[in-house]
Amino acid sequence: MIVTTKDLFKAAYGKYAIGAYNINNLEQTMGLFRGNIESQSPFIIQISKGARSYSDKRMLEGIIRAADEIFPQAIFAVHLDHGDEKTCYDCIESGFYSSVMIDASHESFDENIAITKRVVDAAHARNIVVEAELGQLGGVEEHVSVDEANAKLTDPRQAREFVERSGCDSLACAIGTSHGAFKFSGSQGLHFDVLADIQKQLPGFPLVMHGSSSVPQDEVARINAAGGNLKGAKGVDDNQFRQAALLGVTKINIDTDGRLVWTRVHREYFRDFPENFDLRPVGKVFMDEYAHFIAAKNVKLGSAGHLAELAKLIS
Ligand code: G3H
Ligand code: 13P
Ligand code: ZN
Repeated sequence: MIVTTKDLFKAAYGKYAIGAYNINNLEQTMGLFRGNIESQSPFIIQISKGARSYSDKRMLEGIIRAADEIFPQAIFAVHLDHGDEKTCYDCIESGFYSSVMIDASHESFDENIAITKRVVDAAHARNIVVEAELGQLGGVEEHVSVDEANAKLTDPRQAREFVERSGCDSLACAIGTSHGAFKFSGSQGLHFDVLADIQKQLPGFPLVMHGSSSVPQDEVARINAAGGNLKGAKGVDDNQFRQAALLGVTKINIDTDGRLVWTRVHREYFRDFPENFDLRPVGKVFMDEYAHFIAAKNVKLGSAGHLAELAKLIS
């Protein structure tokens, strides 16, 4: 069943976070649904602009509709990840997405608010919810001064004004993470002090953490041993997800980790079975492995086991 992220956040706020997982194809979709059913967890499917144009935007919609039929127990939101204004309107008009992200974080504070507000007005008219972003995502290097680091992170005082003026439903905050497999060059990590200040300014308001893949070191080692070159890859400690959830983070974005599972499975499979040229055996291994990955991640997020309770809440 497709719901809005608002429904999911109401149930989760202050207790656990919902995993927001990017998909691009059928195998990821099957693994994602299986893993969430196995762990009895609600979830968010994220579709990026790149994923929409990988084959055809209608293809992913069709795959998700089919998965919804195959797994009638599943409760999930369909969310546009990092949308620009035009893509947001396209998704809002499609009637398929229950949530969109407008990412105008690269604009000035006032322009970010103005763009976000236009998208919010269009989305709310159709009962679709909006995630916005304030602050600059990107690893804060170890050598930078505290002032420099804080300039990149979300300013808690601005966060409140941003939400009030834009009318957004959730806010992606920069608290030290970055996208991709190379997040930290040293011992940097999440800035819980900044997150706590944001929550003080916005009590009860759902916050979002992007760039939250944990880049498991055993996965990186296996990829490198099977011919890859991901030296120095490092991610977020997923034992910190629960702490973030207590401070108002209700959505945690994970894409890179799924790509690592895909890369490891395919590199190892074709190394071990060089005579094979059939796409299905390796596709099956990936679906199983991705499902296991999702189920284990949901335990770290705290969302595992909450499906039945959520089904009652929204019925
Ligand atoms: O934050 C970006 C996501 O990881 C999606 O990546 O734009 O390459 O699909 P993509
Ligand atoms: P990762 O690159 O850490 O998986 O982050 C994904 C993300 O934030 C998608 O919006
Ligand atoms: Zn992101």
